[in-house]
Amino acid sequence: MATDASARTQAERTVLAIPGSPGHSTLDTVLERTVEALQSGFPHYTGVYIYWLDGDTLVLRAFRGRPTEHVRIPVGVGICGRAARERQTVVVDDVGSDPAYLACSIETRSEMVVPVMRGTQVLGEIDIDSDVKAAFTADDRKFLEQLAFLIATKA
Ligand code: SME
Repeated sequence: MATDASARTQAERTVLAIPGSPGHSTLDTVLERTVEALQSGFPHYTGVYIYWLDGDTLVLRAFRGRPTEHVRIPVGVGICGRAARERQTVVVDDVGSDPAYLACSIETRSEMVVPVMRGTQVLGEIDIDSDVKAAFTADDRKFLEQLAFLIATKA
């Protein structure tokens, strides 16, 4: 029987193989397969959203989980806008204590946003919501930053 650790390793491998897969020829296919595999492979990832930058606005491009009303987010607004403005990963362990947080669901307790970068330019973002407080570990961060790097190579 698979241990939790080996299931996790396998889920990471599955996701990280998506951007380089020859079968996924367009960026939209890569993003769709990615959100699907992230949400199904990682139980604490309740909602998975990928935004793409259009001018100064983040536009929702693919998601799995609860639908969100925040389909367009200006850079600088919310947790997503903060990650884009600062050009770095933002982890919020308790969204209720962050006044900038834009709520998608009252069930969400923590959030991590990882920018997809080309050099110093933000292309988009991977935004993960969890119903568990402080759900995201250093392993989640490392894994999602690696994924963001691979997605950027397809953009
Ligand atoms: N919570 C985000 C908005 C995006 S939805 O959660 C999908 C924010 O504060 O920017």
